[in-house]
Amino acid sequence: MRRACIIGTGAYLPEKVISNDDLAKFVDTSDEWIRERTGIRQRHVAAEGEFTSDLAVAAAKQALQHAAIEVGSIDLIIVATTTPDHTFPACAAAVQRKLGADSAVAFDVQAVCSGFVYALAVANNFIIAGQAHRALVIGSETFSRLLDWNDRSTCVLFGDGAGAVVLNAEDGDGTPSDRGILATHLGSDGRHYDALFVDGGPSSTGTTGHVRMNGREVFRHAVTALVGASEEVLKQTGLQAQDIDWVVPHQANARILNAVAQRLHIDDERMLMTVDHHANTSAASIPLTLAEADAAGRFKRDQLLVMNAMGGGFSWGAALVRW
Ligand code: ACO
Repeated sequence: MRRACIIGTGAYLPEKVISNDDLAKFVDTSDEWIRERTGIRQRHVAAEGEFTSDLAVAAAKQALQHAAIEVGSIDLIIVATTTPDHTFPACAAAVQRKLGADSAVAFDVQAVCSGFVYALAVANNFIIAGQAHRALVIGSETFSRLLDWNDRSTCVLFGDGAGAVVLNAEDGDGTPSDRGILATHLGSDGRHYDALFVDGGPSSTGTTGHVRMNGREVFRHAVTALVGASEEVLKQTGLQAQDIDWVVPHQANARILNAVAQRLHIDDERMLMTVDHHANTSAASIPLTLAEADAAGRFKRDQLLVMNAMGGGFSWGAALVRW
C-alpha cells in the first residue's frame, strides 16, 4: 500500500514580535489576563509588504532543504490559508511561482484553523490514489490583517507565521506499523457558521472584514472536536491513546490543549505546545509546532503522532502519523 511519509519540515515566523505588554499599550488588556486565559506571551506579525505567500515560501524552502530534494520533483502544492495574498489566484499559485515548482499542480484549501489537517488529508488521498508522488503541504497565515485591533476579545489571540511539510510516496504493508500517514478524519458543522467568522468577503461586502468570535462556544466545541477526531483516527487503525508518543495540536490556547490532554489521558509533556511564543496562527500552527519539535530532535523513527485541529465553520480533523 502507498503511504505518504513526511520527509521534511520547515517553519517561518516574521521578525516583528508584539508582546502582551506591547498590546496593553493600545488595548484595554494585560499580560496577566492574556497569559492566564490563553497561555500566550507574544505573537509575530508580518511586516508591511510581507505576504502570506512570502511566509509560505520561507517555510517551504526550509522543508525542501531538510528533505534534501529538488523543487522540480514536487508534483503537488497545497496551501492551507484563510489569508491569501489576493482573493484570487490561489496563494499556492504565488508560492509555485516564487519556488519555481513548475511541475506541480497548486491550489489552496480553506478550513481556517483546521486547514492544515484538511490539506494533509487531501494530499494523502492524492498520494494513495497515485495522482501525486511528492507534495508540499503548507499552512501559512497573516491573520493579523483580519484583526480588529480595538476588539480585545479577539486581537490578543492571533499571530502570523507559516509551516510546511514535504510528503513522499513510499511503500508500506498496509498495517499500523507502516511509516507515514496512517489515518485521517475530517468533520464540519455549518450550523456554527457565525460562532467564529469574518464580517466581510468578496461576495458579501466587497471588503476583507474582521474576525468575530463567540469565545465560550468555540472553547466548548474545540475540546469535544479535538478529542473526538483523535479518537476517530485511533479507531480506524485499532491503536490506543496510550500508543501515542506525541500530540501536535492546533495551537488555539493552552487551556483548550490542557483539557484535551486530560480527556485523552495524555501526559502534558506529550502534548506539544508552542502557543506561548506565536499565539494562534490558524492553519500555520500545526506545521509550525511540528517543525519546531522536529528541529529539536524530539521525534524518533517509528514514533506515533496525532495532529488535531478545530476552527471556523465549525471544521475539525485529525491525522495519525508514524514518523
Ligand atoms: N483582556 C482583558 N479582559 C478581557 C479580554 C482581554 N483581552 N477579553 C475579554 N475580556 C473580559 C471580558 O470583557 C469579560 O469581562 P466582563 O466579565 O466584565 O464582561 C471577561 O474578560 C470574561 O470574558 P469571557 O469572554 O467570558 O472570558 P473567557 O474566560 O471565556 O475567556 C477566551 C475568553 C480566552 C477567548 C476563551 O473564551 C477562549 O479561550 N475561547 C476559545 C477561543 C479561541 O481559542 N479562539 C481561537 C480561534 S478558534 C480555534 O482556534 C479553535
